[in-house]
Parts: sequence; structure tokens; C-alpha cells
Amino acid sequence: MSHGRFQNPVSAAMAGFADHFRKQELADHLTDADHLVGRTCLVTGANRGLGFAIATEFARRGGRVLMACRSDIPGAGERVKELSKSQKVEMLPVDLSDVDAIRAFCAQLKERGETLDVVVLNAGVTPPTSNHTRQGQDRMFAVNYLANVILTRRLLASGVIPNETAGNRARKPPRIIFISSDSHQGASAIDFDEFGSTAPYGVTKAIHNYSYFKLVLNTYATELSRRLNRDGRVDVSVNVICPGPVNTDIIRDAPFLLRLVLRGIFTLVFQPPAKAALPVAFLAAAKEMAGTTNEYLHMFNKKRMDEKCYDARAGALLWQRSMELWSRIDRDLPEDRLPHD
Ligand SMILES: NC(=O)c1ccc[n+]([C@@H]2O[C@H](COP(=O)([O-])OP(=O)(O)OC[C@H]3O[C@@H](n4cnc5c(N)ncnc54)[C@H](OP(=O)(O)O)[C@@H]3O)[C@@H](O)[C@H]2O)c1
Repeated sequence: MSHGRFQNPVSAAMAGFADHFRKQELADHLTDADHLVGRTCLVTGANRGLGFAIATEFARRGGRVLMACRSDIPGAGERVKELSKSQKVEMLPVDLSDVDAIRAFCAQLKERGETLDVVVLNAGVTPPTSNHTRQGQDRMFAVNYLANVILTRRLLASGVIPNETAGNRARKPPRIIFISSDSHQGASAIDFDEFGSTAPYGVTKAIHNYSYFKLVLNTYATELSRRLNRDGRVDVSVNVICPGPVNTDIIRDAPFLLRLVLRGIFTLVFQPPAKAALPVAFLAAAKEMAGTTNEYLHMFNKKRMDEKCYDARAGALLWQRSMELWSRIDRDLPEDRLPHD
């Protein structure tokens, strides 16, 4: 049975607090010269929290920003325009817990002839108890993991994220960035027996699952990087980041008393989203990160993910099992050959 590193949400939040005091080694490597002019950037879950701050920072740096969201449309986009003083911002509706909606969203991007230079997989949920999506998946698993698999693989298959297999390799490798959490460190190895299971759970197991699904996500990111980039040649850059502790409303669904305690910790000691967005901008825009792949940043520090995320056998099996699961719940898989199956 899978488990995470933390026993409860308060210990997880306090670990985040300790992160504050770590030296941010690459912080001064991001300068205003690191711009996104001429680049199209997709950010999921961009209507609030970290995603909103990333969208604003990207727009401020001159990027054309597509905000993939399920709510606050067009209000959040208007606020990003106002804050960034850029009009190159557009909101596109998508519910990432619904495979039909993801398919329609990807088709829309293809029909519009979009080419993405930066893709940030940011959307995430922390439901305090299990609940299910329209296709019967556990919601946290579906949004925090499976949606990111489906989205990246559809966009790669159609060449919306340019790549060699799709026949439109870009001169500058596009940058895929997964927003993860350092809480994945120490989560258990992927349990393929219960992979994609929908067993009911409460608050304690929810915090375990959150860390565990981030470990699953990081393992997928490593495998994606491995498959897209062979023989030391980077076709598509695939990197992972933990933004550190961020004062967002991610705990909004927690039970009342727990929410009260966590709200206090978040408000007093967590960093504002605008600050947490900066290392993400570094991954997206900095020249020194061009053509890098399979890097993990914890805020502004490079470090190793949990070693289990680099296990090539687990990566290959995860790839296969994710594909099997996807094909069971999606009536219409991409016709194009998926890259590197
Ligand atoms: N906050 C932290 O301390 C922290 C630390 C480490 C990592 N992270 C990671 O950072 C990312 C952003 O978290 P946050 O703190 O900014 O949380 P947040 O404020 O709750 O934002 C989450 C975003 O995801 C969107 N989302 C959720 N379910 C969706 C769905 N089915 N379809 C489309 N969008 C959906 C939300 O949209 P709605 O507004 O419509 O719900 C919202 O825009 C997550 O991946 C999280 O795991 C956060």
C-alpha cells in the first residue's frame, strides 16, 4: 500500500516552513534579461494561487500566455493583463478531471495552429477525502497525475508541443515544466497493484496520497525526458520543480479546524505566490536552462529527486500502465503515433 512522507498536513506544512531558511543558490541567476518575448506559454490551473502568479510573471516577461483553467474565466485573465500590463493573455476553459474535456482542449489548440514553447503543468487538488471524476478515477490521482500524462502526450503527438517524432522539431527545445512538491521525497515506491485504484480515504491518507502522487508524477517526468531525449540530444526539455511553501488557498477544502491551523501557518510563514513563481520563470526563460532536461529544482536550488524517480524499470512500467489506464477511460485516443511508445 502506498504511503507518503508526512503523517498529517500540519507536519507537512512545518517542513515547508523549514525550507524558507535554505540558501537560494540560483536566485540571482534570474534577471530581467530572461524574457519570453515571442514565446507562447501554456499554464494550467492559472486562475489562482501559484498558477496565476506564474501566468502574471510570464506575461510580465513578454510571453504570450494561455491560461488553461476551469473557473474564473475571463476574470482571472483580466487581472493578469492588468498586473502584467500585457494584453497577450488568453483564458481557455478545460476541466482537467475530465478526459473528454482534455481531448477537446488539445484538439482546439491543434485546430488553432498553436505551437507551444513553454508548458507548465501546475493544476493540482488536495481533496480531504476521496471523490471521483466523471470517468470514475480518484480525483487527486486524475488531476495531479493522469491529466498531466494525457495533456503532454496529446500535445506531443499532435506537434502542438513541437518534437522530432511529430515531425516539427523546434530549433530551441520547448520547455515542459512539472510543478511538483518536495514532499514526494520518502514516499513509497509506486505500487502497481493499486495503480489507479479508487479505494476510499480520509484526511491522513489524503496527505500521504498527495506526496505519493507527486512521486508518481516525477517518475513520469523522468521517463518522458528519457523517451524524448536520447543519445544526449535534447529534443524537448522536461524539468520538475517544487515551488517551496506557497501561501495559496490549496487547503480550502480541508476540515474547518485543520484549515484554521493551516491558514495561520500559511499566512505567517509561507512565501507569496509572486515570489514562488520566480524559479518557475527561471526554468522557462533563463538562457542557462535552455536545452537542459531531467533537472529538479527545489525553489532556486538544484537537487536530486527521490532516487526512486530515476528507476528506469519503474518508469517504463509506469508509462505502460498509464497508457493502459488512459485507453480504458478515453474512447478516442490520438490517431497519430504517440511519441516513443
Ligand atoms: N501551495 C503550496 O505550498 C505548494 C507547495 C508545493 C507544490 N504546490 C503545487 O503547486 C500547484 C499549484 O497549487 P496552489 O498552491 O497554487 O493551489 P491552488 O491555489 O488551489 O490552485 C490550484 C489550481 O489548480 C486548478 N485546478 C484544480 N482542479 C482542476 C481541474 N479539474 N481542472 C482545471 N484546473 C484545476 C485550480 O482551479 P480552481 O480555482 O477552479 O479550483 C487552481 O487554479 C499544485 O500542483 C501544488 O501541488 C503547492
